[in-house]
Amino acid sequence: MDVIHSVAALRERLERVPNNVFVPTMGNLHQGHIQLIDIAKPRAACTVVSVFVNRLQFGPREDFERYPRTLQGDFDQCRAAGVDVVFVPDEREIYPEPQTFVVEPSDLEHILEGAARPKHFRGVATVVLKLFNMVRPHSAIFGKKDYQQYIVLRDMVRQFALPIEIIPAETVRASDGLALSSRNQYLSVEQRKEAPRLYAILCKMRDELQAGNREIQRIELEGMAELARHGWRPDYIAVRRQADLQEGTPDDTHLVIVAAARLGSTRLIDNLEVELC
Ligand code: PAF
Repeated sequence: MDVIHSVAALRERLERVPNNVFVPTMGNLHQGHIQLIDIAKPRAACTVVSVFVNRLQFGPREDFERYPRTLQGDFDQCRAAGVDVVFVPDEREIYPEPQTFVVEPSDLEHILEGAARPKHFRGVATVVLKLFNMVRPHSAIFGKKDYQQYIVLRDMVRQFALPIEIIPAETVRASDGLALSSRNQYLSVEQRKEAPRLYAILCKMRDELQAGNREIQRIELEGMAELARHGWRPDYIAVRRQADLQEGTPDDTHLVIVAAARLGSTRLIDNLEVELC
């Protein structure tokens, strides 16, 4: 496994094996990332993982400074998972000058996660476009845990006609249902016990929808009220269309319930796809 820090060295290394598949990450790898790598591996001769905590996608009061950085453990996990190249640029390598050109995801930037985290998706899309230009993969894997991020990047690739296949991967969960996330480690022992409630509520909402209940607004409000009763501060729970995360019509059958809520000072997100017949 090669650990590479500069774009020049990355280009030189990848010239030898141009057939590559890419897993962008911010490090602090867990089983969710390993699943992305496992999906990537059989698709190309060379699997590239990037580890870069991207300041541009964090708001001024968010956790950029304390975001867990565990490089040595990340390298060990990448090696064990059979990664060929780990790209670990520093900030000057990705942003050698102020980033005055950005990718603006328009509508998706202003709803749900976009509304709660202004400029977040612009930061994500901008860094991912830059990473794509550096790695030049034929495919890239993104977890559906960050559902809106996946939709933003899928649409970016399509609208800019980038020759890259975006492959979504299912969310990996702990045995009690909590979606794996680097931010779970901010939770206290008590909060960690409470945290699976978010997914449990999504499952309950899915069951109601599948049982034929179409009172979407009431279902959403009940979900949020239940979280609030247990000490959470929900940002949103919303039933949306899978295709574009807009509000659906009664005829839509491919839905996703997306949610974000704070437990103490930790903000957790999750989602659940719902198929109606
Ligand atoms: O999902 C993440 O870890 C990040 O948002 C990404 C895609 C690596 C961009 O910084």
